[in-house]
Amino acid sequence: MSVRWCPVIVSVLGLLVFESALFVDGGTTSSFVRKYEKTIDMPLDSDVFTEPPGYNAPQQVHITQGDHVGKAMIVSWVTMEEPGSDTVVYWSEDSSSQNTAEGIITTYTYYDYTSGFIHHCNLTDLEHDTKYYYEIGIEHASRTFWFTTPPPIGPDVPFTFGLIGDLGQSFDSNITLTHYEMNPTKGKTVLFVGDISYADNYPYHDNTRWDSWGRFAERSTAYQPWIWTAGNHELDFAPELGETEPFKPYTHRYQVPFEASESTSPFWYSIKIASAYIIVLSSYSAYGKYTPQHEWLEKELPKVDRSETPWLIVMTHTPLYNSYIYHYMEGESMRVIFEPWFVKYKVDVVFSGHVHAYERTERISNIGYDVVNSKCDPIKDDSAPIYITIGDGGNLEGLAINMTEPQPMYSAFREASYGHAILDIKNRTHAYHSWHRNQDGYAVTADSMWFYNRYWYNHDLHASS
Ligand SMILES: [Fe+2]
Repeated sequence: MSVRWCPVIVSVLGLLVFESALFVDGGTTSSFVRKYEKTIDMPLDSDVFTEPPGYNAPQQVHITQGDHVGKAMIVSWVTMEEPGSDTVVYWSEDSSSQNTAEGIITTYTYYDYTSGFIHHCNLTDLEHDTKYYYEIGIEHASRTFWFTTPPPIGPDVPFTFGLIGDLGQSFDSNITLTHYEMNPTKGKTVLFVGDISYADNYPYHDNTRWDSWGRFAERSTAYQPWIWTAGNHELDFAPELGETEPFKPYTHRYQVPFEASESTSPFWYSIKIASAYIIVLSSYSAYGKYTPQHEWLEKELPKVDRSETPWLIVMTHTPLYNSYIYHYMEGESMRVIFEPWFVKYKVDVVFSGHVHAYERTERISNIGYDVVNSKCDPIKDDSAPIYITIGDGGNLEGLAINMTEPQPMYSAFREASYGHAILDIKNRTHAYHSWHRNQDGYAVTADSMWFYNRYWYNHDLHASS
């Protein structure tokens, strides 16, 4: 008996072939089993929130790079009882002489909350690769901390970054920070991809939760620079409370060296560290053509000299590629606008947060689509960045456990667990990325890949993971 192909069977078979052609390359969705316990904030009487002893003692101490090349450090802290001294006394480890610098003091109000006295002081003309001690709170209960400046800029200078996002102040946040601190590969600077305290989840955006977060994170932020990216939980836009100045608590508390990169706003800027050029962008500021952010980035990208800083890293809060249902396609408009530049300038990696999970993509781009040509699927692209979502710091909103199915081809690995990542730059061609989930031991790597530099080693497609 001859078989006659009915049109229905043909079209079903055709659909199956089409489907498998589209999705056969999908990566790994981790089957790791974790308990879905509720993520709750640590109560205010937790030990991690303890105020330092002594009258007007400095608290919430944090530092960030204070210039474009790593020879300055902005030191920030809060005093509660009175303004106190705005002086920082600092000295290098092998020096017998002390230096002093004068900072500024600012305060703000938010609804029924009045901040403490927020100090910012930029220590400039520092030596590279040098350990400095610094003392603050001079007149009353002074406290001393230390940091090490990054090495000089150079193409083969190794450097280790920590990656943390959406941290918050839950019990899980504390585990994430501990795992970062205890990781045997020691991060020297944290690239923080936004969403800090989640104070805005409290009634009236209870800003005491900004203070408690500052005390919680001090054990890391006082000793190594955290590079800040603004997230949606930094907006604190609440017209119902009479608060219409976006980013008000954030900008008062966290300063960044945006003017050093000729930016006009603290929400987008760049810095150089060792062999890396880091560009921080704002998902919550205008970025369309003719906007200040767009104009800045257009001028900024050609300035990157890959023979000086081979590694080009971009930070955004909202991921441009995300296969979770949570915040699905929220980064699409920025992707459409900036992705062609990321490919043209061979950005190595884009780190983002926002989605409370981990995801790593293939090297893909989707810049061929022009509305009429139907080329709207991502394709493998040697010049495109890897996109990594690291929004799994552990905040009270919980994990993003719902994923789009099937896993799209652009997604190489995804898992909804809390954790942090490390980017360990070895030289101009190689860097090792590792992701560490909180349930594992400190040395365990749950996902990893070797990065081969886009400018110096751009011939590795399919061999990168
Ligand atoms: Fe977010």
